[in-house]
Amino acid sequence: MQIFAHRGASGNYPENTTLAITAALQAQVDGIELDVQSCADDFVIIHDSWLDRTTNGQGRVVDTPFSEINTLDAGDGQKVLNLQQVLELINTQTQINLELKHTFGLDKLVSTLEKNVAEGIIEREQLLISSFDHHQLKWLKQNLPWVKIGALTASIPLNYAYFAENLHAYSVHLDKNFINHEFVADAKQRGLKVMTYTVDKQQEIEEMQRLGVDGIFSNFPCYAKMILSR
Ligand code: G3P
Ligand code: CA
Repeated sequence: MQIFAHRGASGNYPENTTLAITAALQAQVDGIELDVQSCADDFVIIHDSWLDRTTNGQGRVVDTPFSEINTLDAGDGQKVLNLQQVLELINTQTQINLELKHTFGLDKLVSTLEKNVAEGIIEREQLLISSFDHHQLKWLKQNLPWVKIGALTASIPLNYAYFAENLHAYSVHLDKNFINHEFVADAKQRGLKVMTYTVDKQQEIEEMQRLGVDGIFSNFPCYAKMILSR
């Protein structure tokens, strides 16, 4: 079972920041999950649509230029990263799961990813793009066919795996509370990987392993690795 650091190692460091990403890399995680929002002129790595919870700034991310966001403190003196910075930071070291939140102008996202691949900053195989917005995923798959996409959902409609398969998804990303044997078996039979969020406690980690889940998103990836190595 693979371990993805959720918003980086966000249980111990400010989420989606260099500190959280660096700690995850040091823990030799299988991948790092990060949230992407459109700001006024760029893609930035931040979970909320508003700056208020995770920075000392205020207002909507989408209304704010990166030059202004870049002056804010995201905790422990950390800055909010933009997409380019995060790709350069992780480089080819581990899988990158970009979760698209409120994003627009995806043609720019496609050209940025293509450019980074062409320059050897990242590799195609390490990239996994997920979203609750399956329209965005469908558009992405049509315009960047090589990219792996992960269909996120908070709960499971009965025909969910069927839907994800038709979306040409690589994986389905589910809330840990909605996973069961039946779903895992159905998804796997369709060739889909199953990943669950957010899995932090020993009992949950062991339960996901027992269910045959392919990967978990954890705020405490070091701890999760330790549990799995027992
Ligand atoms: O990508 C899995 C998980 O991060 C989705 O929920 O709110 O933590 O972004 P959230
Ligand atoms: Ca997320």
